[in-house]
Amino acid sequence: MTVRSILHYPDPRLRKKAQPVAVVNDDIRALVDDMAETMYQAPGIGLAAIQIDVPKRVVVIDCSTQRSDLKVFINPVITRREGTYGIEEGCLSVPGIFEEVERAHTIEVRALDRDGKPFTLVAHDLLAVCIQHELDHLDGKVFVDYLSRLKQQRIRKKLEKQQRLAI
Ligand code: NI
Repeated sequence: MTVRSILHYPDPRLRKKAQPVAVVNDDIRALVDDMAETMYQAPGIGLAAIQIDVPKRVVVIDCSTQRSDLKVFINPVITRREGTYGIEEGCLSVPGIFEEVERAHTIEVRALDRDGKPFTLVAHDLLAVCIQHELDHLDGKVFVDYLSRLKQQRIRKKLEKQQRLAI
């Protein structure tokens, strides 16, 4: 397993639409393992493959306090959304920025697991928000896209400045 480097907003590679995984094979499992390691090391509660510059529809999430409940979603699709809910979201690709976004409170998601087996999951609250946030990444969307244009400009400037200082 390898910790991969995470792309930072406004990197245009975060805007790519991720492609479905055709076959869940050892290469995909190796990708999943690298993503999990990268997420835990960051530390974060979710990561989409596009954030490590792999435009495939693969997401890992662990919202548990013990960091012991890794969930893997390959080719995920949200099949039901109910209610509204919002919490301050952050993103490993948008370091240091936390903003509330309106999301569905409850969702049903269908996906393949690490073995390529289909499953359906009903999620609420934090897990539901996390899944919606990560699935947006697969379509090239970042949570700051939901904010006002002014806030987006401020965030972009702040992160561009940080990246210049980091070189
Ligand atoms: Ni994110």
